[in-house]
Amino acid sequence: MMIKTDFPLLTIRGKTLLPIFQGGMGVGVSAHKLAGTVAKEGGIGTIASIDLRIHHPDLLELSNKSRNAEVIDECNLIALDREIKAARKIAPDGFIAINTMKAVASHKLLVQQACKSGADAIVMGAGLPLDLPEMTAGYDIALIPILADVRGVKVLLKRWMRKGVKPDAIILEHPKYAGGHLGATKPEEIGHERYDFSTLLSEVNKLFDDLGIERIPLIAAGGINSHEEIEELFKLGASGVQLGTAFAVTEEGDADDTFKHTLIDAKPDDIVTFLSTAGLPARAIKTPWLMKYLKREEKLREKATPERAKCAGWAECLSHCGFRDGNPSAGQFCILKQLEFAVQGNYEKGLFFRGSEPMIFSDKIHPVHDVMQYLLTGELAA
Ligand SMILES: Cc1cc2nc3c(=O)[nH]c(=O)nc-3n(C[C@H](O)[C@H](O)[C@H](O)COP(=O)(O)O)c2cc1C
Repeated sequence: MMIKTDFPLLTIRGKTLLPIFQGGMGVGVSAHKLAGTVAKEGGIGTIASIDLRIHHPDLLELSNKSRNAEVIDECNLIALDREIKAARKIAPDGFIAINTMKAVASHKLLVQQACKSGADAIVMGAGLPLDLPEMTAGYDIALIPILADVRGVKVLLKRWMRKGVKPDAIILEHPKYAGGHLGATKPEEIGHERYDFSTLLSEVNKLFDDLGIERIPLIAAGGINSHEEIEELFKLGASGVQLGTAFAVTEEGDADDTFKHTLIDAKPDDIVTFLSTAGLPARAIKTPWLMKYLKREEKLREKATPERAKCAGWAECLSHCGFRDGNPSAGQFCILKQLEFAVQGNYEKGLFFRGSEPMIFSDKIHPVHDVMQYLLTGELAA
C-alpha cells in the first residue's frame, strides 16, 4: 500500500506517483534492487545505466577478456536489459526510470536499450540533452532532463518545443549540495545564487507562464534530508524532490555495505569538490585514493598531453575524458575503474560520490521504506 502523505501526488504519463525520485547513481549504486524497491513503494525508482555489467560476473568476464569497447558496450546493454526486467519483477506496476549521462559516449545506445526494455522514463543530465526527443522517437516514454539553472531550462525548452516535445518533469539539481557530477561548468561557480531554490523554482515557473505553456513538474535535488525541507520546497514551487545519497545507503541499495558505511560515516570536512575526468566538478569523500590523487593532481595535469594519452581500461566510457585524451583542463584518472572499486566496497581504491549534507539516519543502514515514510510524513521509524 502506498504511504499516505499530505504532499500532492505527481502524475507522469498517466501514472500517479509519490513525489519522491530516487536519483540514478552510477556505477551500479542504483541498479534493480534499489530502483525496484522505490518504485514498489510508489515513488520513482531510477537505474543508473552506466557500466551495469559490474553486477553481472558473466558479462564482466566476457568484456574484460575482450578488451574491446564495442564488446563492453554490448555487455552493458545486456546488463541494462536484465536490470530493467529485474526491477520490473520487484515492481510490476511501478515507475522505473533510467538515468543516462549525456557525457557518456554510449548514451544513445543506452537510451535506445532502455526504450526497448520497457523503461517508463529517461532521465538525462551531465550535459544538455537537446537531442533526447530524437533518441526516443516512436516510444511512449517520459523524458526528464536534469538541469541546474533557468538558462539551461530556457535553451532546452525552446529546442524541444520546436520539435513539438515538452519534458514530463524537470529535475533541478543544486551543484552546491548534490553528489556525483555537478551541473556547474566551473568548480568556483557551484555556490552561485542562480542555483538557489528560493529564486530558481519561481523563475522557472514564471518562464513556463511567459512561454504560455502549462507548468511542468519541477523536481528539486541536492542535499535534501528532511521532511520540513520538502514542505518548504513545495511552497517555493516544487512538485517533487530527488534524493541520491539517502537512498544509496539503504538496505536495498545495490552497492556493497562498505560503500554505504563509508558514506554514512563521512563528516562534513571529509567531503570535497574536485574536477572529474569529464571536465565537470564532482563531489566525493576524501577516502585514501582521492586524497592521494588530489595531492598529485596539479603535476598530473601539467604533464597531460594527447601524444601519450590512451584509455586506461578499454571501455572508452566518456565522450571527452581528460585522462584518455591527455587534456590538462580535466581530471587525470580512470573514473570508471575508481567508481567500480567503490561500489564493490574497496575503501582504499574507490571513488565514493556523496552529497554534502548530513544523512537522514546517521546511525545505521535503514530500508527504503523508512526513508520514504520519513520524507513523506515526517515520522521516523523506531
Ligand atoms: C554515489 C552517487 C552516484 C551518482 N551517480 C549519478 C549518475 O550516474 N548520474 C546522475 O545523473 N547523477 C548521479 N548522482 C546524483 C544523484 O542522482 C542525485 O541527483 C544527487 O545525489 C542528489 O543529491 P543528494 O545526494 O544530496 O541527495 C550520483 C550521486 C551519488 C551520491
